[in-house]
Amino acid sequence: MDIQELHRRIATIEADVSAALRGLATADAVRGLDGVMLGKAGSLGSLIASVKEYPPEQRGQVGQAVNSAKQRVKEAIEQRLRELQTADLKSEAARAASFDPTLPGTPQPMGGVHPVTAVQWEIERCFERLGFTVEAGPEMETDYFNFEALNIPAAHPARDMQDTFWLNNGMLLRTQTSPVQIRAMKKFGAPLRVIAPGRCFRYETVDASHENTFHQVEGLMIDREISIPNLIGMAETLLREVMKREVKLRVRPGYFPFVEPGIEIDMNCQICGGNGCPTCKHSGWLEILPAGMVHPNVLRAGGVDPEEWTGFAFGLGLTRLAMMKYGIRDIRVLNSGDIRALTSPRRLGSVFVTDVEHNDR
Ligand code: PHE
Repeated sequence: MDIQELHRRIATIEADVSAALRGLATADAVRGLDGVMLGKAGSLGSLIASVKEYPPEQRGQVGQAVNSAKQRVKEAIEQRLRELQTADLKSEAARAASFDPTLPGTPQPMGGVHPVTAVQWEIERCFERLGFTVEAGPEMETDYFNFEALNIPAAHPARDMQDTFWLNNGMLLRTQTSPVQIRAMKKFGAPLRVIAPGRCFRYETVDASHENTFHQVEGLMIDREISIPNLIGMAETLLREVMKREVKLRVRPGYFPFVEPGIEIDMNCQICGGNGCPTCKHSGWLEILPAGMVHPNVLRAGGVDPEEWTGFAFGLGLTRLAMMKYGIRDIRVLNSGDIRALTSPRRLGSVFVTDVEHNDR
């Protein structure tokens, strides 16, 4: 290649380099170009290698032309590297300046306590203020504590209402929290104020309002001259406090072998407001608080003298109360593991009902 041609070639290479550099946005890419241009096989590198092929009298001139081109290319590459570095710093500074650490983060989905637990805690707080202690009893019970001591002997027809799961060891899954009445009396004697929330089991045909596993809160107050009005007053306070609104109560006679007299305290249905719906079996009322004055035989079984002490007991349907509070119409969702029961029990109520009604059709 003659000298003129060589100068043209150098000019083209330099133009190519500066065009290429403008298009490269990262330091690595720019360094790559360095190799491509100046390496032995690179377009400028091969020109450098060809200097020795020129006749000796031209070599000085050629060498100078090629070398100064090499210097300029190197300089251009370094210049571009410096530019990229300042741009990087600037954008990082801009990012840092635009980040506002006081803005709220992206909300993450959160769980919550189970509706039954939430209501249980509320009831515990309420009764603690009234001077009650909270007791727990075993879920696996003896026939004695679950039935006998509660004035339900072996052949008593009341056992039919509470069929349960009998275990190979002769024990049973408790059908009610009432056995804790006996356990608490034995443990503390009289006077006594205790509640016992817990899981109960019955051999039930499962439907929208019956489950084989459900929760109750037992209440027991023993003192001198306790009477039914104390009981009704307490029921009123409790239900108003949990529902956070005025509720209507209705008192009917009820029969339970371990109380005399026995009553049923009903609450107006919180789903339909008392107009009648499937949840309240179109009666407008829900049995929520079976109760009564503790039977003398039960006091005796607990080691408390019925001549000296009287008391009332109740067995609140905790699961049912939670359903009322959150508008959950079908008891089955509570044990189903449906995560909506924890995140949004209210929405779960209506969503699930639509599903059920749809399936029933
Ligand atoms: N244990 C009874 C039941 O489960 C309810 C109850 C408790 C009734 C205490 C009266 C007194 O049906």
